[in-house]
Amino acid sequence: MTATGPGPAESPRPAGEGDRSAPRPSRGQGSSTGSPRADREGRPGGTSPGGPGWVWDERYASHEWPTDPDPSLVALAGDLTPGSAVDLGAGPGRNAIWLASRGWRVRCVDRSRVGLEQASARAAALGVTLETEEADLTDWESPTRRFDLAVLANIHLPAAPLASLVQRAAAALRSGGHLYLVGHHRDSHGRAGPPDPDLLFTETGIRQLLEGLPELDRVEVWRVERPGHEGSPLADVVAWAST
Ligand SMILES: C[S@@+](CC[C@H](N)C(=O)[O-])C[C@H]1O[C@@H](n2cnc3c(N)ncnc32)[C@H](O)[C@@H]1O
Repeated sequence: MTATGPGPAESPRPAGEGDRSAPRPSRGQGSSTGSPRADREGRPGGTSPGGPGWVWDERYASHEWPTDPDPSLVALAGDLTPGSAVDLGAGPGRNAIWLASRGWRVRCVDRSRVGLEQASARAAALGVTLETEEADLTDWESPTRRFDLAVLANIHLPAAPLASLVQRAAAALRSGGHLYLVGHHRDSHGRAGPPDPDLLFTETGIRQLLEGLPELDRVEVWRVERPGHEGSPLADVVAWAST
């Protein structure tokens, strides 16, 4: 494992989790690898927000998505006093539900109605509640600095929309807040994440992205390995930044 700093390096993913972007097919469908392609505006599959057939709706309706939270989030946020969090691109809410179960008030933002409905249903079954907001991340904005934690897990947008989203996420944080980001490392290209290598993360790229933001005054970035298929580990980039 290659990592610097505390936290995620000591917290490998649960054995057998493997690739989060290769969810298990259900309803008799074939296997699937990687994430859908994003267009230049950061819309996976090129379907337009507001239009029919958001690719992630179809994906969540036909595949089981992991339910365990990211171990690096557990390691980094586990000791924080619960407050208000936003999970940007929450999907079926594995990280949001973990936070809510620890007392956080969590807002899930996603373009996928199916993902948000699955998140709400699973949260209800576990006795916690989530706020949900169906919105496009490429123009989502918080009207105030209202969150203590912003989560961006596996949101692989092209460079410009990703930079814009991270900037808006940082601007949504209260003083003393944290931004958590995790995504597939470019070293995992072809085995995890979107097929376009330009959408995958490197430590340098993510560090530059976060260090350029005036709201963030402490930025830590790690390369974290986790079990992959057939013994070949997969790599993620994990970042933790604080206002
Ligand atoms: C790879 S999934 C990650 C889900 C969740 N964060 C996790 O780690 O399990 C990407 C999610 O981002 C959402 N997403 C991607 N681009 C988006 C956009 N432009 N606007 C809103 N949601 C978007 C998708 O709908 C999907 O739920």
